[in-house]
Amino acid sequence: HMENNRRETLQADYDAFDVSEEVGFLLEDPLTDLPDYYRVWMDLANNLTHLIETHKLRDLVHKMPVLSPHLLNNHRELRLAHLALGFISMGYVWQEGQHSPAQVLPKALALPYWLVSRRLGLPPILTYADSVLANWKLMDPEGDMEIGNLDLIFSFPGGESCRGFFIVSLLVEMAASSGLTGVLEVMQAMKISDLISIQKGLVKVTQSLKKMKETFKLMHKHVDPNEFHGTLRIFVSGWRDNPMLPNGLLYEGVSNEPILLSGGSAAQSSAIQCFDALLCVQHEDETGGYLTRMRDYMPPAHRQLIETLSVLPTLRDFILSHSSADLCQAYNSCVSAMVELRNYHLNTVTKYIIVPGNNPRTTGCPLRGVGTALNATGTGGSNLMAFLKSVRNNTQNALIVERPLINTAFDQAVRDLTF
Ligand code: HEM
Ligand SMILES: *[C@@H]1O[C@H](CO)[C@@H](O)[C@H](O)[C@H]1NC(C)=O
Ligand SMILES: *[C@@H]1O[C@H](CO)[C@@H](O)[C@H](O)[C@H]1NC(C)=O
Ligand SMILES: *[C@@H]1O[C@H](CO)[C@@H](O)[C@H](O)[C@H]1NC(C)=O
Repeated sequence: HMENNRRETLQADYDAFDVSEEVGFLLEDPLTDLPDYYRVWMDLANNLTHLIETHKLRDLVHKMPVLSPHLLNNHRELRLAHLALGFISMGYVWQEGQHSPAQVLPKALALPYWLVSRRLGLPPILTYADSVLANWKLMDPEGDMEIGNLDLIFSFPGGESCRGFFIVSLLVEMAASSGLTGVLEVMQAMKISDLISIQKGLVKVTQSLKKMKETFKLMHKHVDPNEFHGTLRIFVSGWRDNPMLPNGLLYEGVSNEPILLSGGSAAQSSAIQCFDALLCVQHEDETGGYLTRMRDYMPPAHRQLIETLSVLPTLRDFILSHSSADLCQAYNSCVSAMVELRNYHLNTVTKYIIVPGNNPRTTGCPLRGVGTALNATGTGGSNLMAFLKSVRNNTQNALIVERPLINTAFDQAVRDLTF
């Protein structure tokens, strides 16, 4: 009976926060086509790479009619529309390269994009929730969700590196799904002070973080640093903290003032911020401000889970007051796995952004930091690296060093259980 109850509460949480047990925050079975009325959007988005490379996209956008989004009926249709309009908009702005972005997004793009975004609670720019969470399909529908059987719905120039970048990110995000189950289980267990379940939930999160790091390694096989840095990166660049669009982008028919919006980045991954919130990792000042701002780019239900976790009585204080060495160790293992994931990420960023950015051909170019949502223009991307290191250090600082009083009887009872 109690087990049934738990299962029901867990299901209610999965529904409320739009989490799937199998794929976490990924959109399940994304649609790949819209009602026929939207054919013109789909034709451009489906052929985007070709239209950018032949410099035809902007002209075709100028001929586009202003479509009403009212024929979009459900969440998955809205997500596909947001994804398609996002890809077309990025292609439109950056078609002529990073030195001559469009300053104005034409009404036929801007207005429907604005309206669709408002219905979804997402900003009118290509987000991680679009390009990673909702941009996938199975090649063989009966096959597994593995790299050889996954393809993008829409692509930017960059060939296999484009597919690799988004698909590996997707697989890393999918590896977070069991961790999210762990988070929800810990959340429930805290309410009834069920120490054993808290510990089990934490073990799940740790295992999930380790799997995320293992999956991350696929990046090296599927993404070429020069192709990533020189070609793909520009198309995910936004119009905030971007010296090429210092005032932002004007959305014609929507507003008379340009709008500032950050480009897409896995900093918009809700999973990582959920783990931080659960573990009470504190990011302050500019670092914290940036990460908090990234929540505006997440689907509202996912953002809600982070916010719910942030206002609960804290797990860290709970552990400090319950004096179980095993629980404390489970918590610390989790924090350590998070530090290791962030260290691995730091090294990857060095390889894909800092090293190609220091290439003599591009050094001195004020734009070499563009494409990250942060201002990475400091020497050798120093701002970017300082940010990532401070996030990593803050994670490390969550480790519980003071040894709590040991509740030996409880720890022995837990050890006798098998799970
Ligand atoms: C080649 C692969 C990758 C590159 C070049 C890269 C680059 C970056 C950059 C430049 C930032 C700085 C902030 C920003 O621009 O928004 C960042 C932040 C971040 N990235 Fe990545 N990233 C990569 C893959 C991933 C993957 C697969 C994940 C998976 C979860 C991830 C998660 C994050 C997170 C969570 C942040 C925010 C800082 C933090 O919480 O540690 N990144 N990344
Ligand atoms: C993309 O454009 C090319 C050249 O105009 C055309 O041959 C091709 O049929 C188009 N593909 C799609 C999917 O629209
Ligand atoms: C980025 O940082 C550099 C060096 O710190 C600074 O000179 C530049 O003005 C900044 N650019 C933006 C767009 O904030
Ligand atoms: C992070 O910690 C390392 C090692 O303790 C230290 O060398 C570095 O200065 C710290 N960096 C930041 C940005 O806090």
